[in-house]
Amino acid sequence: PVIYIPGDSGALALGADKVAASIAGELKQRGIEASIVRNGSRGAYFLEPMVEVETQAGRVAYGPVRAAQVKGLFDAGFLSGGAHELALGDPEEIPFIARQTRLTFARCGITDPFSLEDYERHGGLAGLRRAATMAPAQIVAEVTESGLRGRGGAGFPTGIKWKTVLDTGDVQKYIVCNADEGDSGTFADRMIMEGDPFVLVEGMAIAGLATGATKGFIYIRSEYPHAVAAMRRAVEIARGAKVLGPDVLGSGRVFDMEVRVGAGAYVCGEETALLDSLEGKRGMVRAKPPLPAHKGLFGRPTVINNVISLASVPIILDRGAAYYKDFGMGRSRGTIPIQIAGNIRHGGLFETAFGLTLGEIVDDIGGGTATGRPVKAVQVGGPLGAYFPRALFDTPFDYEAFAAKDGLIGHAGIVVFDDSADMLKQARFAMEFCALESCGKCTPCRVGSTRGVEVLDRLAAGIAPDSQIELVTDLCNTMKFGSLCALGGFTPYPVMSALTHFPEDFKPAPMREAAE
Ligand code: NAI
Ligand code: SF4
Repeated sequence: PVIYIPGDSGALALGADKVAASIAGELKQRGIEASIVRNGSRGAYFLEPMVEVETQAGRVAYGPVRAAQVKGLFDAGFLSGGAHELALGDPEEIPFIARQTRLTFARCGITDPFSLEDYERHGGLAGLRRAATMAPAQIVAEVTESGLRGRGGAGFPTGIKWKTVLDTGDVQKYIVCNADEGDSGTFADRMIMEGDPFVLVEGMAIAGLATGATKGFIYIRSEYPHAVAAMRRAVEIARGAKVLGPDVLGSGRVFDMEVRVGAGAYVCGEETALLDSLEGKRGMVRAKPPLPAHKGLFGRPTVINNVISLASVPIILDRGAAYYKDFGMGRSRGTIPIQIAGNIRHGGLFETAFGLTLGEIVDDIGGGTATGRPVKAVQVGGPLGAYFPRALFDTPFDYEAFAAKDGLIGHAGIVVFDDSADMLKQARFAMEFCALESCGKCTPCRVGSTRGVEVLDRLAAGIAPDSQIELVTDLCNTMKFGSLCALGGFTPYPVMSALTHFPEDFKPAPMREAAE
């Protein structure tokens, strides 16, 4: 039999290595021959570590498994799908998994992340093979036609970005993958790098063939050691199999890549600071223009895309633009891996076509809070995203719909809070976060964030509340319109949304106590 035990760091954090060691020990003791595959996670983290066994009737899942329960699983005959209180049946039929539309994450949790054969058996490399027969402009047109927009958060059309780079006549161009996934509550980049690393290699190679870039860099945050190791191993294997190198899949075209590790600054997820960091400098935001597409890494035209944008490209080239475009709503086409985190019963990654409402995601899919208390607020789009109250739960997951409600979907991370959350504290946290992470280049962010903390502290202490609210509103306007990058420019979103939707939390403490 084949036993699948996730080696993904989310599962590891929940004890997957201990479970794997127990299973190996039990196999040895019982003299059973079986192979163990350390696969990625399917993303249902509330069920991790989720162990799957390949039986004659297909795969059967058990979870969440603790090392101490392994002996009992063997006693129940789990290697042939035996009944047990942890049995979940066919993993594809677990509601959280069955309800998804998996295009980008199609293989994640299913295949062996480091087997190129397994990757190809499940549709891998078909996109790159097709791209290798196409002219660069044709590949760019296919990506443009698919409607794919940047999944890092800004939602800029990927095909247009690629066209800008293709149209520059430079002899040296680069593809840079932004894997500095710093948003709170997000883990999609990490999950795909650890669970299906070849899809990112393939996406980057397609981007290279499309734009004429011969070299790629994956910039991964240092907090992701498993993703760094997984990507390095996958690049090595791909190079050995001539998927990368001087003759990509026998096409005579050149593309190779390497992995670089960041040093833990949130601002290095901003594309120009990331470029500085890649060049060996301290990560400081550059003024735009020039756009990286014109003058990027080492002054050369550079495509910078998020992990998920690049990992979504292989399926577009394989199945065609129309197939991908068919999913979604409005100008938000295809699928989006929503990461459901915070105080939530069923937390995990849920890939679906754009268009589900926030309420469906939190209440139906997420199952409400883990504490069982009412949901008070949901922060969408990372620490710089807005807090949405229940009254806005009918907002569909779509770039424009969120913008119309003064929010953003960002990298599609959502963090749920129950009614014990204090929104004034959350607003203060946003200002404090900005002050800590600011690169210091521009005044509204560098100074404004520190003043913001002070104003909110005065408000909490009940010192002239009306004028503090006026001051913080004014300050947020200055930061929003006067900051050089999204760090200072977006900090007003959590602050102003908290103030707008939860005004009762901004009353000074004595008044709040009196009201209660
Ligand atoms: P932006 O709107 O300035 O740019 C978006 C992208 O399009 C950039 O790559 C830019 O270079 C490119 N671009 C713009 N015009 C172009 C043109 N004519 N030709 C070619 N390329 C062009 O947004 P920015 O500052 O890059 O990103 C802000 C977003 O980052 C926010 O929406 C936020 O959600 C997100 N974010 C994501 C985080 C994460 O961990 N994934 C963390 C913090 C923020
Ligand atoms: Fe640096 Fe903040 Fe200005 Fe961005 S907004 S350039 S992080 S000081």
